Amino acid sequence: IDNGLGRTPQMGWNSWNHFGCNIDEMTIRSTVDALISTGLANKGYTYVNLDDCWAAYQRTNEGYMAADPKKFPSGIKDLADYVHSKGLKLGLYSSAGTRTCSQTMPGSLGFEDIDAKTFASWGVDYLKYDNCNGNGLRETVRFPRMSAALSNAGRPIFYSLCEWGVMNVATWGAQYGNSWRTTGDINNSWASMLSNINTNDQFASYAKPGGWNDPDMLEVGNGGMTHDEYVVHFSLWAIAKSPLIIGCDVRSMSKETLDILSNPEVIAINQDRLGIQGKKVRQYDNEIEVWAGPLSKRRTAVLLLNRGSSGSRQITAAWTDIGIKRGIAVEARDVWKHETVAGRLNGSLTAEVAPHSCKLFVLTHVGRQQ
Ligand code: GLA
Repeated sequence: IDNGLGRTPQMGWNSWNHFGCNIDEMTIRSTVDALISTGLANKGYTYVNLDDCWAAYQRTNEGYMAADPKKFPSGIKDLADYVHSKGLKLGLYSSAGTRTCSQTMPGSLGFEDIDAKTFASWGVDYLKYDNCNGNGLRETVRFPRMSAALSNAGRPIFYSLCEWGVMNVATWGAQYGNSWRTTGDINNSWASMLSNINTNDQFASYAKPGGWNDPDMLEVGNGGMTHDEYVVHFSLWAIAKSPLIIGCDVRSMSKETLDILSNPEVIAINQDRLGIQGKKVRQYDNEIEVWAGPLSKRRTAVLLLNRGSSGSRQITAAWTDIGIKRGIAVEARDVWKHETVAGRLNGSLTAEVAPHSCKLFVLTHVGRQQ
């Protein structure tokens, strides 16, 4: 949607994947502090998003949504002020239904205008809008209503549709929102991560600045995958121009987790101003895939993926598969090793990739083949 937001995929943090309903204002404030002290905020992780369970069970007598007084005694406005004082932005969550998915708080169905105005008055910058308890009304009715309400709320609010890919949302999401979920919920496993990014891939052509496909939030650092698998997770999300919403406890993450999440060269692929979603361009067998997408300045991002568990494999990305013209010579930069491969490459790039691992390169045109 053309509201000036999401010109590149949104980056930030969300409470759900690690904390679920177990959130309160001290947890969020200390997370804000950790985003700053770890340097993640400086890398572009701007949105601090509360997910489900932040609100009181009932609306006020006047019909307003209110923060859960036990978890957020100082209120959302106070939290937003804190987040803004640190140069970051605050996100909230609601559902296009009578109640949210956890059932612990009201949804916004029938209250779109009043809720959008309330959120704006608190200084909220982002809304994740879920799909539970929709009262039998279609998504194509319920989600546009909040879009209209937000555009009248008097404050730019990033609108993240969370309708789990139903009703082919990628075909209409950009009319109403800045991103739309293409899949069911991710969980902290290799299989779920790959399944979500695969489903998301078929909608690649619909992503563009202002509106992105969302295969769900990151699980990096939550412990269910190996280090190499998390590198694959982050690389796939980066090349596919997916939202980079951290889902771990950044107050206690390992150095390895921080290194993955803050790799500037990988983030730069995701945030490239062309905004073209990279996709799977070649599947050699059940284990071996090549993903690629164009970047600005005549560069190309290429990911060599070994999904198999048997052993290392040689993987080749041919120019004809990754959209580079025949006769173009490139220089290849390995963005995980932070190393430029010696010499010029003509026609293809081949590298060895360990099981459940990937390699991610940025190719820069350096001239024509001699
Ligand atoms: C749904 C969403 C999740 C999360 C939970 C919260 O399952 O898809 O991302 O917001 O609700 O209850």
